[in-house]
Amino acid sequence: MIVTVLVDNNAREGLTAAHGLSLYVETDGRRILFDFGPKGELLLQNAEALGVDLSKVDFAVLSHGHYDHSGGLEAFLQANPKAPVYAQKDAFQPHYVDKGEGLRDISADVTLPERYPTRIKRPFALVQPGDGLICFALVPRKIPFGEAYDTFFSGSAEEPVPEDFHHEMHLLIREGLTWYLLAGCAHQGIANVLDHVEGLIGKKPAAVIAGLHLIGETPETVATVGDALKERGVPVCTCHCTGSEAYAQLSEQLGTQIRFLQAGDVLEFGDD
Ligand SMILES: [Fe+2]
Ligand SMILES: [Fe+2]
Repeated sequence: MIVTVLVDNNAREGLTAAHGLSLYVETDGRRILFDFGPKGELLLQNAEALGVDLSKVDFAVLSHGHYDHSGGLEAFLQANPKAPVYAQKDAFQPHYVDKGEGLRDISADVTLPERYPTRIKRPFALVQPGDGLICFALVPRKIPFGEAYDTFFSGSAEEPVPEDFHHEMHLLIREGLTWYLLAGCAHQGIANVLDHVEGLIGKKPAAVIAGLHLIGETPETVATVGDALKERGVPVCTCHCTGSEAYAQLSEQLGTQIRFLQAGDVLEFGDD
């Protein structure tokens, strides 16, 4: 499996960085796009600079209904004539954040499912787009995670309700007997996602590629996430909303179990 980071908060020379995420995956002859970054132009430009032909993607996944993952979705639908896009049923509901300065709308474009009804597939809990591919949502939040969790809302601007992130959809990819996990922001907590995966496939994934949503979290929260990752022993490639401070701390704690990714990075898994 080869994973190319198309959009991230950080970028190698010649690429544009922006708060958001988009990963391009080639596995067993299939081409997958996981998230679309915050803007269409950015996705198209970075993909072109990296030699990735988005028109050849076979299917795509939206990790959750936040603009920094969905902003390039319409540009993708126009650049690619055929690939279905899987998103949890409620990903296109309104979503907000309030960090003490009032409610800020961070929704995906809520009109997209109406305008692209045949392209956007909206499963509720789980879908298998092909052999060895599982998109799943509804991860139970068994272990509390992060102070930021309570700053997110859904509902409406007039009547916001606390967010439960059931619109997060993660992707499992199998190559041979080996599974890999892709997660966008892991708002539900990466430990909860990893434990849920074990229930689904009966073992741990060989690696996880994910944002860990630790920007602005306390060192204590970061240490708790580090402990949970260490206990589970799954190698982590992280990017996007993990943030450089949390990464530095996790890197101390986890050593070679964790590595940092940015736009332009290419990861190769398997066959070694
Ligand atoms: Fe998010
Ligand atoms: Fe994000």
